[in-house]
Amino acid sequence: MLRLLCLLVVSVVLSIPVHAQEAEQPVDRSATGGAQTLEDIMKRQEGLKVDDSFRSDVTGSPESAAPISGQLGTLGGASDPDLWRAYRYNSAAITTQARGPAADVLIQDGGMWWLEFRQGPLLKYGGWLLGGMVILLAVFFLIRGRIRIDGEKTGQTILRFNSVERFAHWLLAGSFILLGITGLITLAGRKLLIPAFGHEAFATLAVGSKWIHNNVSWAFMLALILVFVFWVIHNLPDRTDINWILKGGGILGGGHPPAKKFNAGQKLIFWSVILLGGSISVSGLSLLFPFELPMFAITFEKLNALGLPQLLGLGELATSLAPHEEMQYAQLWHAIVSFVLMAIIIAHIYIGSVGMEGAYGAMGKGEVELQWAREHHSIWTAEVEKKKSQAGST
Ligand code: HEM
Repeated sequence: MLRLLCLLVVSVVLSIPVHAQEAEQPVDRSATGGAQTLEDIMKRQEGLKVDDSFRSDVTGSPESAAPISGQLGTLGGASDPDLWRAYRYNSAAITTQARGPAADVLIQDGGMWWLEFRQGPLLKYGGWLLGGMVILLAVFFLIRGRIRIDGEKTGQTILRFNSVERFAHWLLAGSFILLGITGLITLAGRKLLIPAFGHEAFATLAVGSKWIHNNVSWAFMLALILVFVFWVIHNLPDRTDINWILKGGGILGGGHPPAKKFNAGQKLIFWSVILLGGSISVSGLSLLFPFELPMFAITFEKLNALGLPQLLGLGELATSLAPHEEMQYAQLWHAIVSFVLMAIIIAHIYIGSVGMEGAYGAMGKGEVELQWAREHHSIWTAEVEKKKSQAGST
């Protein structure tokens, strides 16, 4: 019995290197012209690892195809799977009418991570971000209520924004809202809207959304430039901002910290709109002119040189990107930054409308109640009143 046991142990031990050796042996695929063999199929069925590199090495080459007379021969030069594999690994001779850097890439195998991320986490966490902001504001409204004008209203108004400034603001606001809605329709189409409304209805919606998104983007970029030019001077950080931030903007009670034309909170909104809006515009241009404005390989190279990705534990970022990869990074960046800006803007819209008594007039008629101005922008109001009285006395 002991001898039998020893024999068993020895044979098991000896069999290990034999299997290891077997795994390293290159598989002879001459019988199938370099394509999958019966052995591969059996291995896969047993759940063993199969080296799939042969699939991309020999893709749809008629010369290496098995002869028709053979048992596993193909009917013609290349079989359907051969052809699909050739498309997948970009080795088929494809002629297209459209000319461009990546016109002959019909299947981009390496893009699956992008597709999965776009339809999964991007949509999910982006949706949570927007929904979370709405819930947060609703809770804030329930706790704090509408921020009222504290003092007695004077019945007088003061000009806050002239018509040109208001035009720029509403051009920016209108275009951003349209871009946000049509962008979300495009992103959620396959995952949410097609299952809900069907292909037919979504096709019409998609065509309209795309048209609006592509064309309205110019209005957004123009408005962004106008708003920047008009208001940058009032949004440079200064000492009053520190005090304003330390007092939490006075939003939770405790008086109104002094502020110039824009307080620190508004400056944050302004710079978010300019920087994030600028970044969305640049990545949007890259998407609007496919393959013409690649910018991610260059950016990754610069980030690597700064050592930033390494610092974050991401290692070196890839600096040689295929044309489709460039577009995929542009799409993700465009969508992620847009989600962040949309969340910020939801908060801005709240505070500029229902959240604060007297605020809307600034962008509505351009005039605000003098008492509101004194409370929220005391330094600016004092300056305007001083100029007015000086002008009146001369
Ligand atoms: C559609 C709803 C919106 C409303 C009701 C609204 C309202 C307002 C109001 C009342 C102000 C002036 C605040 C003051 O007197 O100090 C303002 C300023 C501003 N708005 Fe809007 N806005 C809207 C949408 C947007 C959008 C979509 C953007 C940008 C994408 C935007 C960007 C700005 C910027 C940069 C300022 C100056 C900085 C600030 O006051 O925060 N607004 N908005």
